[in-house]
Amino acid sequence: MATPSNVAIAELEEAFQQRIDREEKIEPKDWMPDAYRQNLIRQMSQHAHSEVVGQLPEGEWITRAPTLRRKAILLAKVQDEAGHGLYLYSATETLGVSREELTEQLLAGSAKYASIFNYPTLTWADVGAIGWLVDGAAIVNQISLCRTSYGPYARAMVRICKEESFHVRQGYEIMTVLARGSAEQRAMAQDALDRWWWPTLMMFGPHDTDSAHSGRSMRWKIKRQSNDELRQKFVDQSVAQAEFLGLAIPDKALKWNDTRNHFDFGEIDWDEFRAVLDGEGPCNHERMEARRKADEEARWIRGATLAYAEKERVRSSTGTES
Ligand code: 3HC
Repeated sequence: MATPSNVAIAELEEAFQQRIDREEKIEPKDWMPDAYRQNLIRQMSQHAHSEVVGQLPEGEWITRAPTLRRKAILLAKVQDEAGHGLYLYSATETLGVSREELTEQLLAGSAKYASIFNYPTLTWADVGAIGWLVDGAAIVNQISLCRTSYGPYARAMVRICKEESFHVRQGYEIMTVLARGSAEQRAMAQDALDRWWWPTLMMFGPHDTDSAHSGRSMRWKIKRQSNDELRQKFVDQSVAQAEFLGLAIPDKALKWNDTRNHFDFGEIDWDEFRAVLDGEGPCNHERMEARRKADEEARWIRGATLAYAEKERVRSSTGTES
């Protein structure tokens, strides 16, 4: 098949950008620049990896939940995260890449997942802090992504955001019960806020000036708001929530700025951020070991499922047993 000439590609790219500027949704069968496709595969697959690996920190507390009610709620939440991963892998596959390939990239360490999931869950209060802060930050990011230019991604986000709001509420309820409990419970809640606050701010990525992808992602409306804009929105909403709990956000520079109409806040430890991205966080090795073990143990199930699907395909296309 003749490849389009440079002129033709330039015209296609111009027409594509005009569609983006007209707020049209790009669908799987539409022409798109390869760089747009590759950027989406990168971000969407890492989003899916994050959902699946994100089950591990909270999953450790399912058998240790303090009541049957808490166990049932946590089970439902962790199960939701698995489903979010499946929605996002399915949406990524519409770009012409297989789930197997994406999983291989994760297990080989060439694909990332959210840095936040490389921190340990030391107490039950961590389950509350994750729901309140981590899912809270995820919602700020994902509500923005509901307007992303790629149709399957935007539609996956709408469904995921509905479930995330339950995740935040259950987490904030845990923190409320602890903050109103005994002195020991209040101390446990404050300790969890101290440990999860700054890693949560890292979820929004590097500063816009240091972001490798934001320029193109914003032009293509993959991203509708910048890393720093979403981080600021999260900080602004969290301050009153922490005050209601009677807990102190661990940032001495946190202060309302009338001129900016936002909270000023301190600088993130970007050396820590880069170390975690380089695999040197507190739990990187543990998380990857668990993910590799799960992948190995489920190999036979995938094989059987694919063999059955192929048998069914042959039977339905030839009308005979294979
Ligand atoms: N953790 C891991 N990697 C990160 C990161 C983080 N917190 N922040 C940035 N990065 C990586 C980027 O992936 C990129 O690396 P790459 O080129 O190898 O992909 C590099 O750092 C530069 O960052 P950029 O800002 O240039 O990258 P993006 O434009 O992709 O922005 C992002 C980063 C804001 C995380 C964006 O990818 C995004 O919005 N992703 C979708 C949301 C998402 O993945 N959330 C993860 C959490 S899911 C979750 O919380 C589940 C909930 O239910 C608990």
